Amino acid sequence: MDEFDGLGRSFFAQDTCLAQDMGGRPAAFGDFASLLRDVPPTMDMKEYYRLRAQEYDGIYQVARREPEIAELKAWLTAHVRGRSVLEIAAGTGYWTAVAASAAESVTATDLNPEMLSVAEKRKLGPQVMLLTADAYALPHFARRFNAGMAMLWWSHVEKQRQAEFLAHFTSRLEAGASLLMIDQIYTPPFSSPITREDEWGNLYTVRTLASGIRFEIIKNYPTDDELHAAFATVCDDISVMRTKEFWALSARVRPRAL
Ligand SMILES: C[S@@+](CC[C@H](N)C(=O)[O-])C[C@H]1O[C@@H](n2cnc3c(N)ncnc32)[C@H](O)[C@@H]1O
Repeated sequence: MDEFDGLGRSFFAQDTCLAQDMGGRPAAFGDFASLLRDVPPTMDMKEYYRLRAQEYDGIYQVARREPEIAELKAWLTAHVRGRSVLEIAAGTGYWTAVAASAAESVTATDLNPEMLSVAEKRKLGPQVMLLTADAYALPHFARRFNAGMAMLWWSHVEKQRQAEFLAHFTSRLEAGASLLMIDQIYTPPFSSPITREDEWGNLYTVRTLASGIRFEIIKNYPTDDELHAAFATVCDDISVMRTKEFWALSARVRPRAL
């Protein structure tokens, strides 16, 4: 995703070249990486993010994105003010920190403890709890939350599991809760190229980590109509805003049928 530079190359691949050019990494590292180029990519998303945890925040350190990230931070802060937030796929806690500055509480979950260890270093405050949990098998909490958020996550949800995921996520939220999501717009040459489409219409891309290990991951880029159709299964008042490289969706969770 964001690890792509203006030429469509990955930062990681580029870093590898620079390190070699500058003598920053042993030549053997480059040899290993070039050997791995011929190995078919792994398809394990959990493992991809586990290995990427220490490198992940690079996506937020891209100068051209600063104005729209600031806009999205203001959008999020306004939507979570005073609320109890359940966050799934929180990653390194970049958006957790933004929400924590205005929310009453944030329970931030992720499948990878390695990601949450990075979040822990942010010193997010006593109103934030970090918890390892699968977005498709969330724990039962003592309370229901009045806001749910998932950032840069929807693109990784298989189309055939979107309804299941939304029903499950909103089952942990109150009727009338806010549902908030931010994700990426396909913006060549910055986005990593789409490599294939499956029978469900899911799109895939290949990412390369600093080690040279390659992963094929699902990365969908929904239209506004697709977002409205998917979220209408559980929400009202759906609104989608688009910046240059991101979309942000807010919606209100409908009361559940008994
Ligand atoms: C693109 S990152 C988003 C991180 C963070 N929300 C952000 O916007 O910076 C996707 C995250 O999903 C997590 N993840 C992958 N599969 C998951 C699952 N089944 N349940 C919960 N989290 C998962 C990964 O560990 C990773 O932290």
